Amino acid sequence: MSASSSSQPFSTESYFQTQRPPAGLKEKSEKMHQFVEKWKAVNGKKVVLVTSGGTTVPLESNTVRFLDNFSAGTRGATSAEYFLSQGYAVIFLHRLHSLRPFSRHYSHSLNPFLDLLSIVPSSSGSSSSIVVSPDHTKSLLPILQAYHEAQSSGSLLSVEFQTVNDYLWLLKAVTASMASLGRRGMFYLAAAVSDFFLPEERVAEHKIQSLQGTLSLEMDQVPKVLKPLVQEWTPEGYIVSFKLETDTQLLIPKSRAALSRYGHQLVIGNELHRRKYEVVFVERNSMSKPEKGTGDDRIKGTATPPIMESGESEKLDVAGLEQKEEYKETWLRLDDLKDEGGKGRDGEVEIEELIIKELLDRHQRWIDARE
Ligand code: PMT
Repeated sequence: MSASSSSQPFSTESYFQTQRPPAGLKEKSEKMHQFVEKWKAVNGKKVVLVTSGGTTVPLESNTVRFLDNFSAGTRGATSAEYFLSQGYAVIFLHRLHSLRPFSRHYSHSLNPFLDLLSIVPSSSGSSSSIVVSPDHTKSLLPILQAYHEAQSSGSLLSVEFQTVNDYLWLLKAVTASMASLGRRGMFYLAAAVSDFFLPEERVAEHKIQSLQGTLSLEMDQVPKVLKPLVQEWTPEGYIVSFKLETDTQLLIPKSRAALSRYGHQLVIGNELHRRKYEVVFVERNSMSKPEKGTGDDRIKGTATPPIMESGESEKLDVAGLEQKEEYKETWLRLDDLKDEGGKGRDGEVEIEELIIKELLDRHQRWIDARE
């Protein structure tokens, strides 16, 4: 199939037919499969896939330059910790070198680990030793305990991706394994996935030379894998996607549009600058999942999506969605917590703790609705 941008856009199917799987896919998929099988055998154990960090789009196959997507991986790494504390087994599918559960508290920029340590000088010929400074011990102790608990129980599996191609192949593979969990599986898709990519036959082999003057790039749209994920790969999974916007006005209509289009359970909307302090849960009033392929039709009675995803059309037809009473929104705000005597945004509560608390209940109801 031709993959130029002047031809048909890639469907999910044609993407996987034409773009090669990344090196190491087999081994990583097998690890994730074994992890799922292990926890599937434990009665009632819930498993969550947390995707985290941005994806890259290499411009050269011997890669010197690449395009990147914004994300430090804070949302994913923090959420993974709270899922673990609530008894979930967690597959943490994350961008290479982005923040990770537990170690995120000691990132080199915010809290360099060398600053935690003190040297105890040698006494009578023995060598000096190193201890954690007493003022850091109190905060480190619970983190270390939770980390050791995750290590010894084997309830956290971390798998890395770098490019958008790695991400898509790994997502497909892990979803195939998790589908067998039925409703016990949750998908928490917090990664910032590139909307555009360069098909492999248009990627330069060697470093692009500056001698050629200006550089023009024509990129293809990455197929929205959320659709097959929801409708084919794991019809029973509890699926949470994120919607990032810089214009708050768009958060709710675009989140509703995503629910309508893909037919999954929940969209968590977040605005770039306030994402650490407030998020909005957008969901249907009833727990039911729309029948296959009916997502768009539910809004307008046509197959035309009311709000297109980026790259498809910028025209927003919000009216049909705003009048619908079938959606509800729940805002979670750290400021609200402060007003009620809680710790608020300057205290120790993280918004992910509130998000995961809300999700526990929803996931359990999703499981119970089946039985
Ligand atoms: O890591 P931090 O710095 O803490 O930032 C966290 C975050 C802001 C990145 C996170 O909270 C967030 O909003 N992540 C999703 C951002 C995003 O990629 O949104 P999107 O509109 O491009 O995609 C929406 C959903 O569609 C995503 O859940 C994604 O998994 C899915 N998608 C995206 C592209 C694609 N080709 N297929 C998809 O299915």
